Amino acid sequence: MLPFNRNRNQPRTSRSWSLSGMDYADSKRKSNFVGKVLLLAILTALCIIMLKQSPGFSSPSPFSRHEPGMTHVLVTGGAGYIGSHAALRLLKDSYRVTIVDNLSRGNIGAIKVLQEKFPEPGRLQFIYADLGDVKAVHKIFAENAFDAVMHFAAVAYVGESTLDPLRYYHNITSNTLVVLEAMAAHGVKTLIYSSTCATYGEPERMPITEATHQAPINPYGKAKKMAEDIILDFSKNSDMAVMILRYFNVIGSDPEGRLGEAPRPELREHGRISGACFDAAMGIIPGLKVKGTDYKTPDGTCIRDYIDVTDLVDAHVKALVKATPGKVGIYNVGTGKGRSVKEFVEACKKATGVDIKVEYLSRRPGDYAEVYSDPSKILHELNWTAQYTNLQESLQIAWRWQQSHRNGYGPPLAMSS
Ligand SMILES: NC(=O)c1ccc[n+]([C@@H]2O[C@H](COP(=O)([O-])OP(=O)(O)OC[C@H]3O[C@@H](n4cnc5c(N)ncnc54)[C@H](O)[C@@H]3O)[C@@H](O)[C@H]2O)c1
Repeated sequence: MLPFNRNRNQPRTSRSWSLSGMDYADSKRKSNFVGKVLLLAILTALCIIMLKQSPGFSSPSPFSRHEPGMTHVLVTGGAGYIGSHAALRLLKDSYRVTIVDNLSRGNIGAIKVLQEKFPEPGRLQFIYADLGDVKAVHKIFAENAFDAVMHFAAVAYVGESTLDPLRYYHNITSNTLVVLEAMAAHGVKTLIYSSTCATYGEPERMPITEATHQAPINPYGKAKKMAEDIILDFSKNSDMAVMILRYFNVIGSDPEGRLGEAPRPELREHGRISGACFDAAMGIIPGLKVKGTDYKTPDGTCIRDYIDVTDLVDAHVKALVKATPGKVGIYNVGTGKGRSVKEFVEACKKATGVDIKVEYLSRRPGDYAEVYSDPSKILHELNWTAQYTNLQESLQIAWRWQQSHRNGYGPPLAMSS
């Protein structure tokens, strides 16, 4: 208790007599007060330090907010062949990139390469998630401020699609719907969609233009066409900027040798011609089997349009830059030049320096004789044209990566003595 009990209602005069006593009590109270304030300040500082160190408390991630002058692109399937090359190009061009991939077919090694190259905060993040998981996808969109989506993620083998069609409709068509719904719900206004020349089927007339009737003949092409239709129907009443890119046959790899094509070994049987060629050159398979030599083509083998992955990702960046709200752009991405399988095999032999054994067999059901693009629309509207059109050079670049990554993105194989 204080030595006196001051009544605030007492008149001033009646309080003045005990001034010295008041001085003593006041200074004691003052020092008590200062002590309490100091203690409070120390406790508050301690709390802040502890909170800051706790996992739930961190400054907001740069990925979660829009930043003027910075375009944040969600790259689905960015651990895969084309998606990883696209992410590399976007990062080189100063975009902010979030990769979402379930690693079902992609490689964490490709993500590591990108992370090592772009370690700065706010440049690249990887989120392991399945696009079929609706809740997970919405959470990703809620927690990140995307400006655009490049939707690459897909299962993508024609042969496999005929054996397991439901997987293709689910993974391609249904997952595209999930991505589109999440974009609409979270106000993401630009979509660049990976489509394919397989949506055209087997047109009577070559070259294929964007106006060529789409009549896909396998579940892969049909699933992609359905996904395109969903996107087109949605875009009719939306201000979303949409670009649909229909790629022809993709080959090659990063000219600086940082990334390559490394499909899972179990997918080899469904694989693409360049993979088979390199496997044959490395002795992983005994040789190449060319199926069909009696097509109505100059040398009897099938004709395809091979587009280098570096050119392909350039088309994506140009599409992203030119994407316009409320508009849809549909473009073929090819060289416009058809090459026969025989030509491809000869180029591969030269690129690898290996005299690959080639076996000529009868036709494979479902293969079309001739497919090549008319790429004039993309030239006129996006000012894009293929630059890497020398088949042997593209294959040489890819071969260099294959040779230095005999185990794909896995640990280097021990040298045999
Ligand atoms: N490679 C070609 O010649 C070619 C031609 C035309 C179109 N495309 C299209 O290009 C895109 C990329 O093809 P790619 O050759 O890079 O294939 P890829 O298999 O190398 O890459 C696909 C990636 O998507 C991921 N993925 C698959 N399903 C997923 C899911 N449910 N959730 C999250 N991630 C998932 C895989 O793990 C993989 O990393 C595909 O849409 C494909 O249809 C490819």
